[in-house]
Amino acid sequence: MCGIVGYIGDEQAAPILIDGLEKLKYRGYDSAGVCTNDGEKFIVEKEKGKIEVLRKSTGDGKKISGTVGIGHTRWATHGEPSKINAHPHLSRSGSFAVVHNGIIENYMELKSELSQNGVKFTSATDTEVVSQLLEYYYSGNLLDTVIKIMPMLKGSYALGIMYRENPDEIIAVRKGSPLIIGIGENENYLASDVPAILDKTRNIYRLAANEIAVIRRDSITVYDTDKNVVEKSVETIEWSMDAAAKDGYEHFMLKEIMEQPKAVHNTIAERIKDGKVVLDEIHLTPEQIRNFDKINIVACGSAYHVGVVAKYIFEKILRKPVEVDVASEFKYRNPIIDEKTLTIVISQSGETADTKEAMYEAQRKGSYAIAIVNVIGSAIATDANDVIYTLAGPEIAVATTKAYSAQLAVIYLMAIYFGDILGKISEEDYKNYVSELLALPEKIKLILKKTEDIKNIASKLFARKDVFFIGRNIDYALSLEGSLKLKEISYIHSEAYGAGELKHGTISLIEKGTLVIALATYEDLHEKICSNIEEVQSRGAYVLGIGCENRQHLSHAADSTIFIPKTCDIMLPSLAVVPMQILAYYMARFKGCEIDTPRNLAKSVTVE
Ligand code: G6P
Repeated sequence: MCGIVGYIGDEQAAPILIDGLEKLKYRGYDSAGVCTNDGEKFIVEKEKGKIEVLRKSTGDGKKISGTVGIGHTRWATHGEPSKINAHPHLSRSGSFAVVHNGIIENYMELKSELSQNGVKFTSATDTEVVSQLLEYYYSGNLLDTVIKIMPMLKGSYALGIMYRENPDEIIAVRKGSPLIIGIGENENYLASDVPAILDKTRNIYRLAANEIAVIRRDSITVYDTDKNVVEKSVETIEWSMDAAAKDGYEHFMLKEIMEQPKAVHNTIAERIKDGKVVLDEIHLTPEQIRNFDKINIVACGSAYHVGVVAKYIFEKILRKPVEVDVASEFKYRNPIIDEKTLTIVISQSGETADTKEAMYEAQRKGSYAIAIVNVIGSAIATDANDVIYTLAGPEIAVATTKAYSAQLAVIYLMAIYFGDILGKISEEDYKNYVSELLALPEKIKLILKKTEDIKNIASKLFARKDVFFIGRNIDYALSLEGSLKLKEISYIHSEAYGAGELKHGTISLIEKGTLVIALATYEDLHEKICSNIEEVQSRGAYVLGIGCENRQHLSHAADSTIFIPKTCDIMLPSLAVVPMQILAYYMARFKGCEIDTPRNLAKSVTVE
C-alpha cells in the first residue's frame, strides 16, 4: 500500500527520497513522486508506473535541488493510477504539499464544501482535500493548522506535510496508518516502514495514533492533539539491511521460503524450556483461561488461513468452539462475543486496517485480545491485550511465506499451552507435540532439498489455466493457502475446496487437463481423499498429490506426487505448505511474472 518517505538535513533530498521509495516498493504501488523545497519554491516530480520512470525523469533525483522533501509511492484507491493523481499533492496556490497513506473517508463532503467556497481541485484523490484544507484554514502556524484540521478528517491516515514558506520543517501525522521517524545527526527522516531508512539510521520513533511530529534538521518534537509534548522513547532496530536484502536469490519470495526453518526455530526456541511450553507473553491466569467459553479468530489473507488451520487444531485439542472470521466481515455482522470470548488476532504487519478494526470491535465488546504479530511495535501489537511475536524477521515479498509458517508455529504453542492448562492433553501427547514441534525446522529443511524436483513439476504445469486445490479436514484448511499462493503470484485462476464438496457443483468445471492439487497428508481421511482423486481423474483431471512419505495408495491414485516427512497431524500444515509455496513460486517464474510485487497487491493493507 502507499509508502511515505521524508528527509530534512544538509544533503540533496531527492536522491535520498527516491532510494527510500525503492525500499518501500514491496508494499505495492502504481505511481511515485517527490516534492522538495529549494528554499524558495517547491519542486514536484511525479510519474505513473515504476520508480525507474521517476529515476529516469529526475536523473536519480540529482536534477532536483533542495535539502528537504517528501516522497510517495501510491497504490490507487480514489482515482486511476496517473501522474495527476500521484502524490505529493499541492494546495491551490502551491504553498502546501502533502503525501498520504490511508483513506479520508469523508473527502467527498469536504471537497464539496471547499468547492462551494471557490477551491479548485486538480486530482480525483481523497488526499488533495488535506492540502486544500491546510491552505484554507492556515492560521499563520502550520502545527496549529494541522491540529485544527485533524478532527475534520474521518478515516485512517498517515500524512507528511510541508509548507513552502518554511523549508526548515516537515510535519508528520499519524491516525491509523503506520509512520516512523528516523533520528540522524543534524538530519532526520520520515517513513512508512523501517527498510526505507535503515541504511541511514537505526534509531527511530514510532508515532502512535493521533500524534503529530514536527521534524527539523536538529530536532524532533512530538505532540498530541492538545499540543502537549509527548515524550517518546527511542527504538533501536536490531536487524540489518542484509535481512531485507535478496542475499543472492533472484526474488525475496524464494529467499523467504528458504528462511522458514530459521523463522520457525526462532519462533519456538525461546518458548520451549525443559520440555515445557512457556508463553510469558500471555498475562491471563489459568482461571481466566478456563473461563473462556469460545475462541474468536480474526485476520485477513494468509493470516486468515492460519486462523482456519487453528480452528481445526484448537477444537481438536481444547474442545472449545472456535469461530474464524475474515476481519473485513467480522465488524459488520454484529458478532456475538463478550468477556467470555477469547479473541486471537493474526497479522504479519500488525497494521492491516480491517484486522485492527476487528480487534477493536472485539475489545469494545469485552473480549480479551491476544495478537500474533511479526512487526514489533506495530499498531495491533501495541493495542492488543497481549502480543506473541513471530520471530520470522522482516518479510519483503508481498506473498507471505515465512510469516505464515511462524504464525502456525505460534498456534501450536498456544494449543499445547492452553491444552495443558485446560487438562486436555495427556502427558504423553504433550511430550509428543513438543518433540514434533522442535523437529519441524529440520523436516522443513528436508522438503527444501526437493526444490529442484518441485521446480521440474512446475515446468510441466505452469501453462494450466485453472487449478483446484482439494483437501479434507486440516488439509482443506491448508488448501486455502496453497490456492491463494498460486493465484496471487502466477495469476492462474485457482480455487480451494473441501474434497467432499467438489461434487456439489464445482466438479462440472473439471475437464481434460484441469489441474487438481490434492492434499492428502491427513491419515484419518486418506482413503476418502483418494476416492475424491479418482472422481476428478475419471473426468479428465491431472492430479498432483501431496502426502506423507510411504503412502503407496496416493502414489497409485495421483498422476504425480510430492511427499513430505511425517509429523503429528496438527503440524502437517507446516510441512505441506512448503511444496505448495515452491510450486507457486516456480509456476509464476516460468510464466515470467513479477513475483515479489504482484500486480494490484500490497504487502500491508492499511485501508478498510
Ligand atoms: C495482504 C498481503 C497478504 C497478507 C494480508 C494480511 O493482502 O498481500 O500476504 O496475508 O495482507 O496481512 P497481515 O499483515 O495482516 O498479515
